[in-house]
Amino acid sequence: MNATVKFGKNHFPVLLDELISIISPLYSGTFIDCTFGQGGYSKAILLNLNNKVIAIDRDNKAVLNAIHLKKKFKDNFHFENIKFSEINTLNLNKENIKAIIFDLGYSSKQIQDPEKGLSFHTKGKLNMQMGLNDISAHEVINFLESKDIEKIFKYFGEEKKSKIISKKISLLRQKKIIKTEDLVNLINQSKLKKNSKIHNATKIFQALRIFVNKEISELIFGLINAYKILPVGGMIVAISFHSIEDRIIKFFFKNFSQKISLSRYLPDQFEEKEEKLFKLPRKKPIVPSEYEKKINPPSRSAKLRYAIKVKHSDNFDIFTEKFKYLIDIENLSKKL
Ligand SMILES: C[S@@+](CC[C@H](N)C(=O)[O-])C[C@H]1O[C@@H](n2cnc3c(N)ncnc32)[C@H](O)[C@@H]1O
Repeated sequence: MNATVKFGKNHFPVLLDELISIISPLYSGTFIDCTFGQGGYSKAILLNLNNKVIAIDRDNKAVLNAIHLKKKFKDNFHFENIKFSEINTLNLNKENIKAIIFDLGYSSKQIQDPEKGLSFHTKGKLNMQMGLNDISAHEVINFLESKDIEKIFKYFGEEKKSKIISKKISLLRQKKIIKTEDLVNLINQSKLKKNSKIHNATKIFQALRIFVNKEISELIFGLINAYKILPVGGMIVAISFHSIEDRIIKFFFKNFSQKISLSRYLPDQFEEKEEKLFKLPRKKPIVPSEYEKKINPPSRSAKLRYAIKVKHSDNFDIFTEKFKYLIDIENLSKKL
């Protein structure tokens, strides 16, 4: 870790040294930190006094961390409590944007916050809202149709017992309001513990967090809108923590870094090719070192990918079409 940056106890910004070595050639300009959290990345970038940071976080508890940075870095730091899918609403008239950074998922503080109920160790009313949400896990589990709950578990949790668990939920909620501990008990009853390293409820809780926070739509429209506001030569960096996120990021960068066919129907010799939108400095993701995984075990599943914008475009239909089935599942929340 960068020796000159100090962070609070138990706060280890993931892949920080790797991020800084990738973005530092672009220094002297504005960096957008889409997932401010405890401000680890923002702080490290602001240590270079020629840099400015515009930070975003949907969790209003991040405001407290932002106030500390504002006191120290004054006009070089600005914070907005918005979702990153709305990045295009920032006032960026005079900004010289160099890179836009996404460090997805949750901070350890959020996971430990009993009010948010993100962890299966919490008790009481189900919640799982990160901030600026329309729905909570309480409404999903207690009121959404069982067949829709099954889809959420299957596609966002890749949970094999989705059908059994969603059926048990619909039976139990006829008798009582389901709370966090009831859901964990119900999952435990539905699954024989095979792998002691992974909690039985891990996949179901992942699925619910994705659905409640619309993480798939956030990521897809966050990447598209980031691309749209980024000048040519600017960089997008995205760090993911589970396979669905990484699949989306990988597709976005890889697909648009190849020449795109404008028409699927013309024979090859007539086929127009659109120029590629990104340059990919490396194809494979960067992952944490053994040392980082040891001192910060939650970093073990992190994958960092980055790309440099080489051309502007407004057409991302291929991207949204590819993941439409996931966006449609998130939109089932409209039934609530
Ligand atoms: C893993 S933490 C980021 C940690 C940060 N890099 C640091 O060093 O402290 C992810 C943060 O992103 C925020 N977040 C997640 N999804 C978001 C979204 N769609 N829009 C805005 N913020 C989001 C969460 O609230 C959380 O604070």
